[in-house]
Amino acid sequence: MSITYRTDLTQVNWRELKRALTRDWFDNGRTPDQLQRSFENSFVACVAYHDQQIVGTARALSDGVCNAYIVDVWTLSSFRLRGIGRAMVETVLDAVRGQHVYLFTDDGVEFYRKLGFSIRPTGLELVVGDWLTG
Ligand SMILES: CC(C)(COP(=O)(O)OP(=O)(O)OC[C@H]1O[C@@H](n2cnc3c(N)ncnc32)[C@H](O)[C@@H]1OP(=O)(O)O)[C@@H](O)C(=O)NCCC(=O)NCCS
Repeated sequence: MSITYRTDLTQVNWRELKRALTRDWFDNGRTPDQLQRSFENSFVACVAYHDQQIVGTARALSDGVCNAYIVDVWTLSSFRLRGIGRAMVETVLDAVRGQHVYLFTDDGVEFYRKLGFSIRPTGLELVVGDWLTG
């Protein structure tokens, strides 16, 4: 199976991405416009395609110096366990070499361990105001 990985977001159909995330139960409520802004405002993003179909995403926020944070790591269910998640995260990590990379995950611990991440004991979080509206 031929998968293409792109860090250039100009060809992304954001409505299609929203539909794919919704169908795959990985939609967190962003509109297509909010998806576009969150990806375009990232330090680096990687989108995986099978032909023209989006089958995965990963992105990182970073200060460009020492700290980065990985989010939106997703492989379409029917394409999982074929190395796509690894390839996307490694593409993102390549853009933040030398930096300390953080992430939160509920179900992806073993996946991230395989990519070299280790568990840190405490994570804290806060949604400021109302989710996506402020
Ligand atoms: C986690 C996720 C991104 C993995 O994507 P994927 O394309 O299936 O991952 P890969 O095929 O590249 O797997 C890389 C390695 O991790 C392992 N792995 C992947 N998912 C795993 C799981 N759920 N449990 C244990 N190991 C897993 C693979 O076996 C592979 O191991 P290998 O290198 O020894 O062969 C995908 O399952 C997903 O989108 N899940 C829902 C969203 C999610 O949880 N995202 C991460 C949290 S932010």
